[in-house]
Amino acid sequence: MLANEHKSVMLQEVIDFLNVKPGRRFIDATTGGGGHIEAILKMGGEVLGIDQDPVSLNITRKRLNESGFSVFKLVQGNFANLQKIASGVGFTHVDGVLFDLGFASFQLEDSERGLSFLKEGPLDMRLDPNLGVTAADLINSLSENQLVGLFREVGEERLAQSIARQIVSRRVNQPFLTTQDLKKLVEDVYARKGFTTNHIHPATKVFMSLRIVVNNEFENLKNGLEQAFQTLKIGGRIVVISFHSGEDRIVKDFVKTLEKDKVKILVKKPLAPTQEEIKDNPRSRSAKLRAIEKI
Ligand SMILES: C[S@@+](CC[C@H](N)C(=O)[O-])C[C@H]1O[C@@H](n2cnc3c(N)ncnc32)[C@H](O)[C@@H]1O
Repeated sequence: MLANEHKSVMLQEVIDFLNVKPGRRFIDATTGGGGHIEAILKMGGEVLGIDQDPVSLNITRKRLNESGFSVFKLVQGNFANLQKIASGVGFTHVDGVLFDLGFASFQLEDSERGLSFLKEGPLDMRLDPNLGVTAADLINSLSENQLVGLFREVGEERLAQSIARQIVSRRVNQPFLTTQDLKKLVEDVYARKGFTTNHIHPATKVFMSLRIVVNNEFENLKNGLEQAFQTLKIGGRIVVISFHSGEDRIVKDFVKTLEKDKVKILVKKPLAPTQEEIKDNPRSRSAKLRAIEKI
């Protein structure tokens, strides 16, 4: 496996909770590197894969062709428009919808996207190249209060106030253009305050909150879940793998909005990957899986 190849998270759990059987129809709303799709196809399921990033779809198409699969559908789009995309290619009343949220390894490793603070690159962060606003646009134009809100509410960053203040004071002379520029500023704020972080880099939450806002991730997830539920047939399932508390809260709140006699909760407490998987794929460590069935 190449360093930037994406390892699918909780693969067996996803197959089990989707209840994949030959002839059943599934939507993978987050195609990524196509690992979950390939597993569904191997079990005899039919699949529509959606992704906002054309690179993901190209990688998946190549992978599936190389594995000998020719019958599958891949559509570029945002899962916030899931119902329209799915009905456009005849995927209505499906047996299951998968959301494996966030980004794929090859997106993180591509320095031109600016998703990783470990790589020098433009402060961009758009997963869909058609989106208009980049992370640099936000950093260089939001007011100090807006930046505080973004870092604190979306990223749960405890030094939100100090980081926002330093950004606003620095950008007057020199706008932020690169990942390393922003990373350095956050590191300096932490060092000056004598703060340390457990297990994560100080810039983790600032970068995560920018990515979430640039890609409108929370709103998209709310819309995607509602539309996925509409697209399911009775007995159909939704499986969601989330990677941070903000996403998981949206999934939990969405389930609460459903009438009790219309939904069966398949996992009471979100499921985590096994220790073995975390050892093999450290990026899976924050994954949480939830699954529901339409009844
Ligand atoms: C973690 S990866 C999925 C990996 C995939 N399950 C696999 O096995 O390779 C997440 C993918 O979802 C896509 N994505 C994230 N948000 C999206 C959205 N709102 N609409 C469509 N695709 C989205 C990203 O571009 C990325 O390719």
